[in-house]
Amino acid sequence: MLLEMHILKVYNRGKLNRKFMYICMEGIDGAGKSTQIQLLQKWLQGLGYSVEKVVEPSSSAVGVLIRKMLKDPRSTSSDYQKVLGLLFAADRMLLMEKIGQEETEDKIIISDRCFYSSIAYQSPSSWIKEINRFVRKPDLVLLLDIDVDRAVSRCQGQDQFEKKSFLKKVQKKYLSLADEEDFMVINANSGVNLVHKHIKKVIAPHLGICDTSIR
Ligand code: TYD
Repeated sequence: MLLEMHILKVYNRGKLNRKFMYICMEGIDGAGKSTQIQLLQKWLQGLGYSVEKVVEPSSSAVGVLIRKMLKDPRSTSSDYQKVLGLLFAADRMLLMEKIGQEETEDKIIISDRCFYSSIAYQSPSSWIKEINRFVRKPDLVLLLDIDVDRAVSRCQGQDQFEKKSFLKKVQKKYLSLADEEDFMVINANSGVNLVHKHIKKVIAPHLGICDTSIR
């Protein structure tokens, strides 16, 4: 087993002399992104990759303002959502600067959300696309596709009915985006380990990883 792991690491290291990769994990609230990103990061690091996790909204001053505004009960109004759309785009530009600086490194960036979140959550799409015109598209997008009832039951302290009908619309938008933009759609209704295995399976070929444990 140890020998197998060693061979695997050496094999994968050989494949590493190439690239920077920007991977994004998307999904509605409660889809399990944070847990899956953590597991993915650990797996890739175990294979010898240098991995960095980023989150949207980020920890910049704009990101902090966004998190504060998201807690405001008025945040569901359409005008407020437009302001949020602009702030998400501004926060993202700051993140792009950081990602741009790291592009020359051998590194995998795993992002918890990206501009596709703005397209799924805010509207109208054409305007959201316009204000995110300078944003870099991720190399790979994983969409955690989960049953909305299951996801909502994991979201604490919010109006469950309102949340459910809103997230149903967001989910629909995500699935149509997945078709248009070739996302890798992961069924996120099963247990944490099964979802992780599925993610490893779809990512492995993109990184040239040969891991016998995920077959
Ligand atoms: P979320 O990933 O749920 O953060 P946390 O797990 O810390 O609560 O994201 C926060 C919220 O921000 C979520 O409801 C989705 C929303 N959001 C948008 O509406 N538009 C965007 O562009 C982004 C990045 C997030």
